[in-house]
Amino acid sequence: METVLSGIRPTGNLHLGNYFGAVKNFVKMQHENRCFFFIADYHSLTTHPHPDNLQQSVKQILVEYLACGIDPQTATLYVQSDIPETVELYLFLNMNAYLGELERCASFKDKVRQQPNNVNAGLLTYPTLMAADILIHNADKVPVGKDQEQHLEMTRTFANRFNKTYGVNYFKEPKAYNFNQDLIKIPGLDGSTKMGKSTGNAIYLIDEPEVIRKKIMKAKTDMGPTMENQQRPQEIINLFTIMEQVSSPDTFQYFNDAYNNCSIRYGDMKKQLAEDVIHFCEPIRARMLEIASNNEYLQKIRKIGAEKAHESAQKTIREVRKIIGF
Ligand code: TRP
Repeated sequence: METVLSGIRPTGNLHLGNYFGAVKNFVKMQHENRCFFFIADYHSLTTHPHPDNLQQSVKQILVEYLACGIDPQTATLYVQSDIPETVELYLFLNMNAYLGELERCASFKDKVRQQPNNVNAGLLTYPTLMAADILIHNADKVPVGKDQEQHLEMTRTFANRFNKTYGVNYFKEPKAYNFNQDLIKIPGLDGSTKMGKSTGNAIYLIDEPEVIRKKIMKAKTDMGPTMENQQRPQEIINLFTIMEQVSSPDTFQYFNDAYNNCSIRYGDMKKQLAEDVIHFCEPIRARMLEIASNNEYLQKIRKIGAEKAHESAQKTIREVRKIIGF
């Protein structure tokens, strides 16, 4: 059985792109793999030294993951800071990470540009902390987007270097995983090809029906087709891409044909799409509200996750200390 590990920084609510691009696959994968899903709250300190609402953001991700169907008994759902073993491994990996390679990391260079007054060592060693997250469970597969691939490459470098330094074959090489044929990329409502929180074009799973309606009715469209079966502009492809995920095949077919024979009315399509997105989000949203109001249950889930993650992390740390010679 392969070990899959995914980390998410607690920076906001999940949107449809997160759901179809990752979380839906996590729910599916958890039954066939040894899965670790964790919330990277230590990492937040590299940019936010006073994490004012960090606890609230951590709770929100826990709630949303649970509402989407991650089963805390099957998978291991935990919070990074609940597993201090990660920090010990981070220290060991830092002894073997070179200034030059850390400085060359693209995400570090970006951060130096973004926060020139806070170029702290945590930023520089962001990749070794991430490597510790991954290697503490000796993960095989790490679902990540393009922006994280360099960090994963560095994790492989650190793993191999550790093995070589101590003459062992202990750490495996974790591979980036993009879900292969299950990868679904949800576009934005503004004609861009990616839905994201930073681009302000997202529909959140927690959005109220009226908010969803407003966002979809405002989605970008063109003047409409003038020739049968004509090529579609990106913003229209986008509406159909979302519709394909949330609407029935019949509905999709209906509007697809309407586009191709030039009878489509975008207003009708958007109204239908809005109702189907609302219908899709409704049960998730209801579960979110229910779970969020049950702090006792959440505490219990967090404890179960910490215990399971501990067991795996302690084993690694014990073995690593022995290999190094402590
Ligand atoms: N750096 C990741 C991001 O910004 C979050 C993260 C931290 C992570 N540790 C990880 C992802 C370990 C995968 C594995 O998205």
